[in-house]
Amino acid sequence: MSFNQRHLLGIEPLHPSEITALLDLSERYVELNRSSAKHAEALAGLTQINMFFEASTRTQASFELAGKRLGADVMNMSVAHSSVKKGETLIDTALTLNAMHPDLLVVRHPSSGAVNLLAEKVNCAVLNAGDGRHEHPTQALLDALTIRRKKGRLHRLVVAICGDIAHSRVARSNLILLGKMENRVRLIAPPTLMPAGVAEFGCEVFDDMQAGLEGADVVMMLRLQKERMDGAFIPSEREFFHRYGLDSEKLSRAKPDAIVMHPGPMNRGVEIDGLIADDINRSVIQEQVEMGVAVRMAAMDLLAQNLRRERLKAALREA
Ligand code: NCD
Repeated sequence: MSFNQRHLLGIEPLHPSEITALLDLSERYVELNRSSAKHAEALAGLTQINMFFEASTRTQASFELAGKRLGADVMNMSVAHSSVKKGETLIDTALTLNAMHPDLLVVRHPSSGAVNLLAEKVNCAVLNAGDGRHEHPTQALLDALTIRRKKGRLHRLVVAICGDIAHSRVARSNLILLGKMENRVRLIAPPTLMPAGVAEFGCEVFDDMQAGLEGADVVMMLRLQKERMDGAFIPSEREFFHRYGLDSEKLSRAKPDAIVMHPGPMNRGVEIDGLIADDINRSVIQEQVEMGVAVRMAAMDLLAQNLRRERLKAALREA
């Protein structure tokens, strides 16, 4: 099995075979997580620190659980009560934590590129849990695992990603991953929420949702990220739902067995009708959460293996 990365900062640097290797290992952890003794030793003796400079429910909980199930010592740094509030910079905070010898650092930050910068300053494996509108690699990987399990493959699928694309790291990581695995990606959004330059990723762009959903295998909905909007991007939430909210009428344009995804948190009645979100025949939103724990276990397991190998080599060089 090959996964030659020191950090998991984005999907961009991954080779398709590394994505497949990570998803294959995740399958083993799905089984473990469904058993009654949910414990393995892959991270035994290692210290994992979670630093979340932005709100999170699913991602933080799932990284914490993933580390604990693999036997790591897990610490959640509470940013709200930390020296960050006293004006300490991200790098100073990281260097302070680095001095405590963590092995895995899980970081979420509102600025794009902040996690890459931090990775240069510490000597442990860094996992990006979402940086600004840049990347959210474990979300794209858990989405890929969910799709692969539901559709039986992860290639030659038509995947429609709809809503606030402009502010979404989830959309960005997903379109890179789905493109690498040779799927057809369609982006559906009003022009104000479509980022410039998306054509370079080789995806099709739609502002009409009905047309964009035609024949789709997967419909991925995104939250309107109001915290990243500094002006009026939509006329009103009601109008947005009318044109871009997923309801049964619009969904009927996709394939009859199309699955509906959402990374959470959802705004019911804004980007998705609550009835669709709760429809267990279409919505795989709960499966996405389940896959999230397994994918994070696999990611940390693979990075820890590389870290141990690297440290062993360094020790042998010194000997
Ligand atoms: C996403 C995020 O934080 O980027 N949430 C998540 O991690 N599940 C999407 C969002 O906030 O809308």
